[in-house]
This record gives sequence, structure tokens and C-alpha cells, in this order.
Amino acid sequence: MTKPRILVARAVFPETIALLEQHFEVEHNQADEIWSRADLLARIRDKAGAFTTGGERIDAELLAAAPGLRICANMAVGYNNFDVPAMTQRGVLATNTPDVLTETTADFGFALLMATARRISESEHFLRAGKWNKWAYDMFAGSDIHGSTLGILGMGRIGRGIARRGAHGFGMNVIYHNRSRLAPDLEAACKARYVAKEEMLKTADHLVLVLPYSKESHHAIGAAELKQMKATATLVNIARGGIVDDGALAQALRDKTIAAAGIDVFEGEPKVHPDLLTVPNVVLTPHIASATVPTRMAMAKLAADNLVGFLVNGKPVTPINPE
Ligand code: DGY
Repeated sequence: MTKPRILVARAVFPETIALLEQHFEVEHNQADEIWSRADLLARIRDKAGAFTTGGERIDAELLAAAPGLRICANMAVGYNNFDVPAMTQRGVLATNTPDVLTETTADFGFALLMATARRISESEHFLRAGKWNKWAYDMFAGSDIHGSTLGILGMGRIGRGIARRGAHGFGMNVIYHNRSRLAPDLEAACKARYVAKEEMLKTADHLVLVLPYSKESHHAIGAAELKQMKATATLVNIARGGIVDDGALAQALRDKTIAAAGIDVFEGEPKVHPDLLTVPNVVLTPHIASATVPTRMAMAKLAADNLVGFLVNGKPVTPINPE
């Protein structure tokens, strides 16, 4: 029997390729070239499945170019690279990798919050540049984390993980805003209080963004929102680029409208808004919130299991759209 053909769009663990090759004829990209759109469309033409990693746009144009495509398995929990309605209309299954990255990503959100509030990057650059020649009472004095007010915008699994760390680990007063209010038991588990977005902007000492990207969340934090925040506040974005207006953020950091920011995701990444690169009070990381070896292995395995589950056994593990 001929094996279904699949495309793996970016380099992944050799173990993942080996697992997929047990079931499929695999066209992979272990050289990790960045394929042009035309190249991607040509390669996906004869495939039944695609292993994607978040950067490949799966839309009506691509679906039209791949008449035999039945599933796209994203190795990411976020799936704003998928046009889900277009996929559903064409009968193409979309899957993602929820749960396996929750705690790792929440750890990173907290790490970025701490690095931002305690000015870790800025002070390390100062030391490496050989500028440390005396003690000073205000040298890299940042803001406290323990006992402060933590605001979380987007209260899914990762948001709740950050809330638990803040409330139970650091005695923070946790407030959140979300499309809908959590059930009382979930609120109690992370000791979080639901507030309006405006109240959160005005009262949070540290604001962490963990909401999915959509047309509605595009530039949810722009100049107007930054102005409402405390001058001593920090902002952390581990959600998606495009949720923050990066140009407005750079200006707010320069003007000290807010104290500092930690940013892991960027609009148009891997390009970074040039103004962000010139302000000192921002910690910048290259979209690595889920990047630990065990978690990336679990994400790759789950994406592969979705392809095998659906194309071989007829049952995906973590589908997004109805079959
Ligand atoms: C996700 O899973 O959506 C992350 O952003 C990718 O690492």
C-alpha cells in the first residue's frame, strides 16, 4: 500500500522525522531553508498532510493549490497562521499543540517579567561594557514583584499558569481581563479577580499579555492604552506580535510613559521594529517562550501524533475545527 505523502515545512527533531517516516512518504526541510511562498505552494500540491510550525500561512490560496490536502498540524498552540474558516469550508482539518507547553510558557512569561522588572538585561550589558566602577544607591533599581499587582490579559491555560505563579509563589495580587469571566473554581485556583480592561491598565504594576491574536486583538495595546498604565509599570508580551503596537511601545519606553517591557513576539517577526532596538528599558527575546528541549519534543510529538492519528487511524488528538 502506498503511504500518504506529507510535507514538513521546517527542520524538526530527527526523531520526529523518523516517527513520521514509519507512516508517510515525507518531504522534509531538515536543511531549514526558508521556502518562498511559491515554493511552499509547489511542494504542498501533492500532499495529504502538512506539519507546520506557525510561520506558514494556510489560507484559501494554499488550499486551492493542494487539492488532496486533508490536515495541517501546527507545532504550536497558537494558530493565527491558519485561516480556520477557509480550512473548514474545504474540509481540511487543523490541529495545534495545547497543554504540552503550558507550564514551560508560563515559566518563561514569569522569567521575562522578572528580568524586566529587575532590569537584568540592561544591567548585564552595563557590566559587560566595563562601565561598573562604583556602587550607587539607585543603580538599576527596578520595581518589586512580590506583593505587587499582576495584570493578565487573556486568561487561558498559560494565563492561569502565570496567575498561579504570581499568587502562590510571589504573593501578588492578581487581576485579569478576558473575553469571558472564568468559572469561580478556576478563579479560586489562581486567586485571580476579574476586572475591566481599563481598570487593569490603570492598576497593574506588571501587565502580561497572553491572549490569542485576532482582528479584534490587533494592537490591543497601543499608545492610548500605554498612556493609561502607571509610569512605574512593566509590560510583558509572550502572546503574539501585532497585539502590541511596537512603534507606540518604543515611544512609550523612550518617554518613560511606562518603566520597562519584556517582549518575546513581534509584528512581522523575525523582523523587529527598529525603534525597539534602540531603547534600553526593554528585554527582547526571539519568540522562545516554549523553547525547552522536553517541551519542544512534546510539541513535535503531538503534531506528529495528530498527522498519524488522523491520516492513518482516522482520529486526530487535538483538533481545532470540526471534522
Ligand atoms: C505557540 O505555541 O503558539 C508558540 O508561540 C510557538 O512556540
